[in-house]
Amino acid sequence: MMPAMRRHPSSVLLLASVLAAQTPPAPAADGVDFVTQVAPILQARCVECHGATKQKGDLRLDQRAAVFAAGQEDAWCVLPGKPDASELLRRICLPADDEDVMPPKGEPLTAPQQMLLRQWIAEGANWPEHGDAAIQKLAAALQLPKLAFELPPVDAAATHAIELAVATLRERGAVVQPVAADTAALDVNLSLLREQVTDADLSLLAPLAPVLVWLNLSRTAISDAGCKQIAALPQLRRLNVANTALGDDGFRALRPLRQLEYLNAYGTQLSDDGLPWLFLLPRLDKLYVWDSKVTVDGARVVRDRLLRLQIDVGDYVEQRMAAAEQEIAAREAKSRPVNDVCPVLDQPADPAQFVDHAGERIAFCCQKCKAAFEKDPAKYLGKLKRRETK
Ligand code: HEC
Repeated sequence: MMPAMRRHPSSVLLLASVLAAQTPPAPAADGVDFVTQVAPILQARCVECHGATKQKGDLRLDQRAAVFAAGQEDAWCVLPGKPDASELLRRICLPADDEDVMPPKGEPLTAPQQMLLRQWIAEGANWPEHGDAAIQKLAAALQLPKLAFELPPVDAAATHAIELAVATLRERGAVVQPVAADTAALDVNLSLLREQVTDADLSLLAPLAPVLVWLNLSRTAISDAGCKQIAALPQLRRLNVANTALGDDGFRALRPLRQLEYLNAYGTQLSDDGLPWLFLLPRLDKLYVWDSKVTVDGARVVRDRLLRLQIDVGDYVEQRMAAAEQEIAAREAKSRPVNDVCPVLDQPADPAQFVDHAGERIAFCCQKCKAAFEKDPAKYLGKLKRRETK
């Protein structure tokens, strides 16, 4: 059970990058669909340079009227029905090292993406009326959320150190990205490298201290000893150390993180003894401790003392499941007749022939008996033999 981790907000960013990198769905039998298949490619890979802000090579690829400019048919880079004569297709199919290849940076389009655009052009390069709006909508969906972070001022030397550290981390395989538009705040994710990441790697983060606000170290091989270095990152708002070997000593060392709001300790060795230290983090309001050594009772103590802290031990789910099971059992009990023998004729009762009377379901052997009972319940209630309940 891992819903706690799925709630991590950086999954929004992850989703955005996954969407951008996604291979398009296979062409539908009735042809390529511009909105769901072509627009996502143009938006993710071309519009940055051929859109509203920049028109490299005097080309816009986010508007039908720009791509198919009236009176300039000779200059169209997309010639409907003629993929092999279309400059756009030629550009995207060039070898990756050709200086004319599009997009000129990043990975070339994948073979399925190239084939899809070829098919789209061959089928007449249909760009429906609402195509422009679809591209705009995709752009809006990929926009990073605006979040305000108050960060300390950073001088030129520190900025340089940050840039170097980001480059080193990326080379090491970390995902480093801004957490939002219009902020220098960074999100670093080292979890993809798993146990390759040890305490020694944490020193790479030191220069990022003024801007590092989200850090994902889940599944890495960091230890309690490394927590001192994490504690030296005072701007951290979110820290994910799920499924690491960290224990109470490590969590205790995190005390200096005065800005920490979210801590994912899922699957760690954190125990009830370590919890009091986390009380001291003044802004912490979400703590995930599923599959750790924290007990439900230990979590309850914290909950009672610190109303602002949402501590998720998984017991909420268990409580909810137990309540749901009880409700189902109660409903079943209600829908089950209280008797096995017909109170009118003393024959075995048919559960399908029943009357709900005074909160009880009473079964009869046949419709006639049922009708007789309904006419005069008092006459038969005395004969009713209720099944023994456990
Ligand atoms: C990083 C910026 C960048 C990206 C991203 C980019 N292009 Fe370009 N594109 C350019 C530049 C610069 C030129 C002009 C220089 C040249 O012709 O190579 C250009 C030119 C072109 C041209 C030739 C225009 C003409 O009329 O000669 C086409 C077609 C084109 N790009 C298509 C695409 C497509 C399709 C994509 C996405 C798959 C794309 N580009 C992504 C920068 C970019």
